[in-house]
Amino acid sequence: MSIMFISMLLVLLVPLYLYLKASSRSKNTSVFPTNWPILHMFPSFMVNVHNLHDYLTMVLAGLGHNFRAHGPPGTGMRFFVTCDPANVRHIFTTNYTNFPKGAEFAAIFDIMGGSLFTVDGEDAAAQRGKLKSVLSNPRMIASTEACCRNKVENILLPLLSYMASIGTPFDVQELMSRFMFDLATMSLFGVDPGLLSLDKPPMDAVVALNTVMEVGFFRHTMPASCWKLMRWLNIGPDRKLSTAHKVLRRFLMELMERRKMEMMERKISTCHVGNDEEQDGVDIMSSYPDYVDDDLSYAKNIGYMLAARDTIGTTLTWVFYNLAQKPNIVSIIRSELSPIASCKEASGVDTMMIFEPHETKSPIYLRAVLYETLRLYPPAPFERKTVAANDIMPSGHEVRTGDTILISLYSLGRMEGVWGNDCPDYNHDRWLSEDGNNLRYVPSHKFLAFNSGPRICLGKEIAVMQMKTVIASMLWNFDMEVMEGQSIQPKPSCILEMKNGLIVKLKKREM
Ligand code: HEM
Repeated sequence: MSIMFISMLLVLLVPLYLYLKASSRSKNTSVFPTNWPILHMFPSFMVNVHNLHDYLTMVLAGLGHNFRAHGPPGTGMRFFVTCDPANVRHIFTTNYTNFPKGAEFAAIFDIMGGSLFTVDGEDAAAQRGKLKSVLSNPRMIASTEACCRNKVENILLPLLSYMASIGTPFDVQELMSRFMFDLATMSLFGVDPGLLSLDKPPMDAVVALNTVMEVGFFRHTMPASCWKLMRWLNIGPDRKLSTAHKVLRRFLMELMERRKMEMMERKISTCHVGNDEEQDGVDIMSSYPDYVDDDLSYAKNIGYMLAARDTIGTTLTWVFYNLAQKPNIVSIIRSELSPIASCKEASGVDTMMIFEPHETKSPIYLRAVLYETLRLYPPAPFERKTVAANDIMPSGHEVRTGDTILISLYSLGRMEGVWGNDCPDYNHDRWLSEDGNNLRYVPSHKFLAFNSGPRICLGKEIAVMQMKTVIASMLWNFDMEVMEGQSIQPKPSCILEMKNGLIVKLKKREM
């Protein structure tokens, strides 16, 4: 498509966008996608882009879990939007090969080009198989657990204790993001960048990772030709992305250098002292002995950092936000932890209680709270697939080759037809069996937070272990108060982070 056409499109769209935004504010009504001449439904989505997840949820609830949307002619924007569990099962499992992520998805996340997150078919299966065996290696699991436990005991709890002692409010989302950045880097490279500390080293790399997800979101909402033109001209969000690219490359190169040095030092000390190598922690890099420092490795590292950091940091923030308004649930979790705590002694400075990863495996309320949070606030709020060949969905809708399918995970967790009348309520009981002793089984095409089918999340159990360890240790040792007057809303991004963070204040619990 010519540059002239794109410029004309932008000239048309900007005034229309401003008009719609003003009119939606003045009437304060919800706008169902209006089918405009030429521009079709594109303006309705643009005007609601700041609030897209809730807007899609409202439209999907009103239209029976599915709808089609078209962009202006020539833009190739032909969407089928769904949150229907039967369609989800069809797309992710039953007819999975017909719904690859596709070339457009790979282009949107070109920064991770060639990595597992952007590829399909045999390439994906091969990369997945290798990573699966690495992540399920017992030494890797033990090392991940030890890293998490030590970081909680030695850095997180003392830091929180200090914040409680001075009584200063702080952004718990930023803290969790730093915590997870360190953990993800440690499991990838075996090196701790030490971002979770009081003297706050620069957060450039954290900001750069956020930029990747924000620009990814922007690209999903634009005609491909528009954002590609912006990329070519290096303007708009794409300018930010190229800066982020440089920051991340430098950061990862520095980590690789540190890793090489530490490996050398370890080898020397092994020769001198005769240490058994088995005693060292393992990291993902060690499992790729043929590693070369090229674009593909860089893309894989970025992909892994995003998978392991953003998802957990975001989920933990939503957990704390919800629990701060539900003191009854906090009490239930504390009673569940109480028998574990009574068998052990509080450790470290300020007699803090740390829960070991294996100790948080059995408490089911803790897991129910996690799942309830992930139902309402899935950190990956939507999935994008392409239609390889014409098909008919279980809902009866036809999809054509080249159509884009958007699956709203955020909306799926909020549909009355799927979760019942109380679906907007935060209610961990819905995850428990009738006698309250077991977790209720919910199929992944209904609870899609960890994805479903052959591309289901490879880090689910690691993620649950890390989140439970943090939640148990924080809830046991502190009371958390969410500061009033904050505007809590998701950021327009591919990750459901809070736009303005979450400011909280801590108080050490009286035992
Ligand atoms: C709250 C925590 C987490 C949630 C909700 C989550 C969710 C997801 C989702 C929705 C996908 C599919 C993404 C896509 O289609 O592009 C995914 C894939 C993946 N996740 Fe997770 N994830 C979490 C934590 C983790 C962690 C901690 C790791 C690593 C240890 C991890 C490793 C992966 C990998 C490797 C994939 C790619 C699988 C594939 O493409 O075949 N995840 N995850």
